[in-house]
Amino acid sequence: MARIVAGIASSHVPAIGVAMDKGQTGTPYWQPLFRGYEPARDWLAKLKPDVAIIVYNDHASAFSLQLIPTFLIGVADEFPIADEGFGPRPVPVVRGSPRLAWHLAESLILDEFDMTIANEMPVDHGLTVPLSVTCGQPAAWPFAVIPICVNVVQFPPPTGARCYKLGQAIARAVASFDEDLSIVIYGTGGMSHQLQGERAGLINRDFDTKFLDGMTRDPLALTRISHTEYMRESGSEGVEMVMWHVMRGALGPHATEVYRHYHVPASNTAAALLILDNRSAA
Ligand code: DHB
Ligand code: FE
Repeated sequence: MARIVAGIASSHVPAIGVAMDKGQTGTPYWQPLFRGYEPARDWLAKLKPDVAIIVYNDHASAFSLQLIPTFLIGVADEFPIADEGFGPRPVPVVRGSPRLAWHLAESLILDEFDMTIANEMPVDHGLTVPLSVTCGQPAAWPFAVIPICVNVVQFPPPTGARCYKLGQAIARAVASFDEDLSIVIYGTGGMSHQLQGERAGLINRDFDTKFLDGMTRDPLALTRISHTEYMRESGSEGVEMVMWHVMRGALGPHATEVYRHYHVPASNTAAALLILDNRSAA
């Protein structure tokens, strides 16, 4: 039986990836952020998962506004790195896990989550930056990846409560897979940030801290945060945090926090990394 051993929440600020690709992680600006990633990388390297389910949003890289899937699963053998305007990031191609991905697609759809299925899809910074942050710069990524996209770029995104239920359905799907696999699930995006308009640069440390605390103290309460509240309290792009609920819903009620890193600013964004251990969380 496959099992979800950990959940990881990670911001996916593109400038973090650029800093790694350009060898700038030791500069005075970036060093405090990157120093905080090291314990997380060590923890994950020891855990040695077989597969990562990465819940992220496409930023109009694979899909334009012509096509906006609310929930999508990638079932390909591999996913190329998207060109977001400056050429693809110089990181390894993302290897898929088609047999498990098709099992998830079938189980989720029969469980009443109407997933879009992607047989071909480039992946953008929403997925590659959390991989880089948690795995460093290996010649090949250390595990296979199943991308799950959530629409958070065009109103209306799904609610936090719906995302949490998707996570619960992912946990049921994983539990019914026949192969003995160790799986981590990532929820990406956030934390507070707004990239445009009069409030560009908004950061709300208090909101972010309560959100991080709530991931273990009362995750269900967090699922009741409305889109308006995300916008008001955490900026227009803070609504990306609904994707963390997919990750949290896939874990047991007693998942424990093993690592937290919060740093302001990374570009215009409050960046966080949170690791939850799910091995004795039932
Ligand atoms: C930026 C882009 C993102 O998608 C994000 O989540 C945070 C920051 C940026 O362009 O700075
Ligand atoms: Fe984003």
